[in-house]
Amino acid sequence: MKQFPLKINLNSKLSCKLISSVLLSLALTLPSISYSETVQPAPNGIKYPVGLKNWRVISSSYRSDNNTQRVILGNSIAIKASRSGATNPWPTGTILAKLVWKNTEHPIWKTAVVPGDFLQSEIMIKDPVKYKSTKGWGYARWKGDKQVPYGQSTSFAQECVSCHTKAKDNDYVFTAPSRIP
Ligand code: HEC
Repeated sequence: MKQFPLKINLNSKLSCKLISSVLLSLALTLPSISYSETVQPAPNGIKYPVGLKNWRVISSSYRSDNNTQRVILGNSIAIKASRSGATNPWPTGTILAKLVWKNTEHPIWKTAVVPGDFLQSEIMIKDPVKYKSTKGWGYARWKGDKQVPYGQSTSFAQECVSCHTKAKDNDYVFTAPSRIP
């Protein structure tokens, strides 16, 4: 009887080590998608991805009709696809984000048009099974500095889908990754 506790102790120490190293390597290898607790989810349940501010750029756009400018960012799956030209269709797990600012002039260099007030962020998540009813993409938008979810009910996404259907032959995505020589 006396030997047992010692044996168990050794084993549990060993398995503790093993478990923690497995957990550590999992944490290092799994692409981590965590979602904000402070920003409210969109009416369809889609949450604001926490890492979004650190995503890399796919392209930018400038709208002359409403005097705004945008950057289009992607999560790591999107960036890999965009850099290798594998974007039609975009791979499952892709998240594209668009951040929109009002245009303003640079205070020193007047002809430079730079981002002014922040207007909104919006995302598209590719998952043909989960988002079958909205043609394979999950849509969400948050308005203003307070990042208030856009839309009253899940049906808001139909508005997104119907306009994005214009880009149907491009997997419902308007943005073509900007060429970087
Ligand atoms: C009236 C048309 C229209 C509607 C409605 C619309 N979009 Fe878009 N969206 C565009 C266009 C055009 C672009 C190309 C980039 C730009 O804004 O200049 C775009 C780009 C995007 C992008 C970047 C990827 C891409 O397709 O280029 C995301 C993300 C996005 N929209 C999300 C949404 C969400 C979410 C909704 C609904 C809440 C929505 N959009 C509604 C026209 C629309």
